[in-house]
Amino acid sequence: MSRKTVNGQRHFIPYGRQCIDEDDIAAVVDVLRSDWLTTGPKVAEFEEAIAQFVGAKHAVAVSSGTAALHAAMYAIGIGLGDEVILPPMTFVATANSVVFQGGTPVFADVDPDTLLIDPNEVEAKITPRTKAIVAVDYAGQPCDYDSLRAIARKHGLILMADACHALGAEYKGKRVGTLADLTVFSFHPVKHITTGEGGMVTTDDPGLADRMRLFRNHGITRGAKRFSPLTSPPASPERAGSRWRAGDL
Ligand SMILES: Cc1ncc(COP(=O)(O)O)c(C=O)c1O
Repeated sequence: MSRKTVNGQRHFIPYGRQCIDEDDIAAVVDVLRSDWLTTGPKVAEFEEAIAQFVGAKHAVAVSSGTAALHAAMYAIGIGLGDEVILPPMTFVATANSVVFQGGTPVFADVDPDTLLIDPNEVEAKITPRTKAIVAVDYAGQPCDYDSLRAIARKHGLILMADACHALGAEYKGKRVGTLADLTVFSFHPVKHITTGEGGMVTTDDPGLADRMRLFRNHGITRGAKRFSPLTSPPASPERAGSRWRAGDL
């Protein structure tokens, strides 16, 4: 969309415009000067901050909202023949994450007033192959979690929230991030806060959190403590004695 200004120049509404201040730049420079450029202590701090903010027990950071959806689909065991119900009004990553795991996305329509998934449509789409429901908190509006949770409980399904648009949103006094079994966030620059690219999954389930941590790091545990070939022998006491260990991915 554009409009003409008095001097004839066109101004476009930007797709997104991030807000980066001097403190942000200094924080990035600190990391660049440290030993840890990947999945180091700053990532753990960020996970803790998001977990506290939303009130969840666990938060697992990954490289994008898409990766967060994929990690969540892996964690709940979506595979060939499994159906996952989700709304068509979303970014394509929501459905693609089901396909990445070999599952089948099944669309349930949205309420035309809110553009949020309609719980009645969800219930109508459940089959013996349905394994999970993904609620998309479109444009920052939380879905009808009371109804969706009741449907999930009744049919023994996992409820996931794609809250990529909804960091900080609340539903009946509770922050988005604990309303579903797993909640996915994106930190792409068009979202509320940005890490450049980035994503996170919050959950209260320690087993799901462990599976996502294995998934994000090729099944290797103790990610933030492993040696870097460039810094061997250990550059800090924290690294001394660290060992690689393969998980059960
Ligand atoms: C609803 C929704 N889910 C998932 C994603 C994917 O997030 P990312 O761009 O960080 O991969 C987006 C991104 O726009 C989104 O809007």
